Amino acid sequence: KIYMDYNATTPLEPEVIQVMTEAMWEAWGNPSSPYTAGKKAKDIINAARESLANMVGGKPQDIVFTSGGTESNNLVIHSMVKCFQESQTPPGAVVEQHSPEEGARPHFVTCTVEHDSIRLPLEHLVEGQVAEVTFVPVSQVNGQAEVDDILAAVRPTTCLVTIMLANNETGVVMPVPEISQRIKALNQRRAASGLPRILVHTDAAQALGKRRVDVEDLGVDFLTIVGHKFYGPRIGALYVRGLGKLTPLHPMLFGGGQERNFRPGTENTPMIAGLGKAAEMVTENCEAYEAHMRDIRDYLEERLQAEFGKRIHLNSRFPGVERLPNTCNFSIQGHQLQGYVVLAQCRTLLASVGASCHSDQGDRPSPVLLSCGIPFDVARNALRLSVGRSTTRAEVDLVVQDLKQAVARLEGQA
Ligand SMILES: Cc1ncc(COP(=O)(O)O)c(C=O)c1O
Repeated sequence: KIYMDYNATTPLEPEVIQVMTEAMWEAWGNPSSPYTAGKKAKDIINAARESLANMVGGKPQDIVFTSGGTESNNLVIHSMVKCFQESQTPPGAVVEQHSPEEGARPHFVTCTVEHDSIRLPLEHLVEGQVAEVTFVPVSQVNGQAEVDDILAAVRPTTCLVTIMLANNETGVVMPVPEISQRIKALNQRRAASGLPRILVHTDAAQALGKRRVDVEDLGVDFLTIVGHKFYGPRIGALYVRGLGKLTPLHPMLFGGGQERNFRPGTENTPMIAGLGKAAEMVTENCEAYEAHMRDIRDYLEERLQAEFGKRIHLNSRFPGVERLPNTCNFSIQGHQLQGYVVLAQCRTLLASVGASCHSDQGDRPSPVLLSCGIPFDVARNALRLSVGRSTTRAEVDLVVQDLKQAVARLEGQA
């Protein structure tokens, strides 16, 4: 079997397993305990915090460990609702949770191709009449959320703009630095008229480990980090610019005070140690990872075009737009060649038709591809192949042969 689903998840690097194993043996103490075993665990956690900060170009004190991307994304959204409600309520006043008058609800701006861990919490808030959300359609020409469209969606009550750094299905990189710059300029004008500051969040789950990610270049206030997408364990973190000072964060959980009360609960030392190691490896090798993945992905696209000719539609190659170096979303055009049917015929290839959390809906075309302007019949046949740090050209050759034979069988020629 050849795994080409690295956007779904990645294996752990051996070095990551090693530090996790060591931490399990040697740093099992409660990190809050004052004696040696506790101190050792605490030191490991703080070193990991520093490694994460280095990876994203931020400060260690601005990193909060979480259970993963879903929690980090929910935490940002939850916190912004609380901040907005606080800003609307004079100290001491009674808050009416469920019947806010029109105009007093926080407004969020996001786009139509976000991961479910952004889309669903926002939809949930809309259903509960707690918040208002504008889902800005992405461009049908290039798959990007356009800066002008994002800005045009802003209202006086807007509290957060959340746009992913790179899309998990197409790999399209969003113009987050430009969005942050424009929001910053807008915030100055808003301050003059007494309107609340808009914060900017990006979900960097898919970008980390595949391209440079730097919170200063991006200009964001929040950034979501997901370990299992960069050969780390299944936990995550949230970067918050000037945590608790420049940027408030309201916790979702209340408990023993860990993570300075922003995310209490006894720390998962081995996982945090592993996340730190994975981050260290990204900081040291990101350019090499990126170059390798790009070479292999480009070779894959070349081979697909050579074998299938005009029948191949590359769904994620938009003109003038950057995309992740490892992601190839394509369709083999023809009847009976729906993505999930082709995958089921493959004997070697392990891949997906879109976001893995939607793998039970393989017979329906991806809403993300449809949003990006990919025609229905093409989107229905889509396959998402995502290569990793150790994928080889020889594996690409085998996968392309596997696809060819699968298609031949489906078309009754084999
Ligand atoms: C873009 C994006 N955001 C968030 C997540 C969710 O992360 P987690 O699986 O750690 O909750 C994923 C992973 O599937 C993702 O691709």
